[in-house]
Amino acid sequence: MRKLERIVILTGAGISAESGLGTFRDEGGLWAQHRIEDVATPEAFAHDPARVHQFYNVRRVQAAGAKPNAAHQALARLQAAWPGHVLLVTQNVDGLHEKAGAEVVHMHGELSRALCAACEHRWDSPQEMSVGETCPACDAPAARPDIVWFGEMPYHMEQILDAIQTCDLFAAIGTSGQVYPAAGFVEEARMAGAATVELNLRDSDMTHAFEEHVTGPASEIVPQWVDRLLQGR
Ligand code: OAD
Repeated sequence: MRKLERIVILTGAGISAESGLGTFRDEGGLWAQHRIEDVATPEAFAHDPARVHQFYNVRRVQAAGAKPNAAHQALARLQAAWPGHVLLVTQNVDGLHEKAGAEVVHMHGELSRALCAACEHRWDSPQEMSVGETCPACDAPAARPDIVWFGEMPYHMEQILDAIQTCDLFAAIGTSGQVYPAAGFVEEARMAGAATVELNLRDSDMTHAFEEHVTGPASEIVPQWVDRLLQGR
């Protein structure tokens, strides 16, 4: 393996599972309880904004009450030990990486932020958002959760792809590999010649694409993996 200078880490709902936040696609997960087309598309919001707000209001309260676990803490420790070398990208909207002290790129938005559908202004969302709330910048009654819905373009893609194309190691933690473009990052990393490692409780849809696999609960395997990286530095 070439010298480890740049690391990109992608996280998904599995890293927050042991903090008490349900994942999407594990048994009994969020997408078994709700239909994506009812709560996580722009069309759903246009059709029934109250239902969509209710879905995210519940999740916002749950996330606000959740604490980061040993996996979030270990990634923050890795970033602090290796300043400027570790780009942490998350699909999660729960804010637990920040609570652990990490700097993170939110490709699917954040529960704690609101977005104006009219002028794209963003601000800290109230704990409960409601239909017709106005934007503090343009006054349009167009406030929505700052969440990337299905059919919308994830945020910060240029920064993320640039980092992947120049990284030496790409790791994916607790993600099922079912949602693009994040699911395709491992292939991008391999084309760039990076080493690839998947950390997950079980095989994912993208397991075949990774060279190395670490299997187990994130709160156990992530701290051990971070220790190994720091020792081998
Ligand atoms: P999923 O629910 O699709 O996948 C969760 C993954 O975490 C699975 O691969 C599990 O095996 C793994 N997992 C569960 N518990 C774990 C644990 N304790 N330790 C380690 N791994 C564990 O969640 P994501 O892949 O994050 O997007 O989903 C991707 C996107 O789909 C989400 O960001 C969301 C969703 O629809 C939007 O809402 C736009």
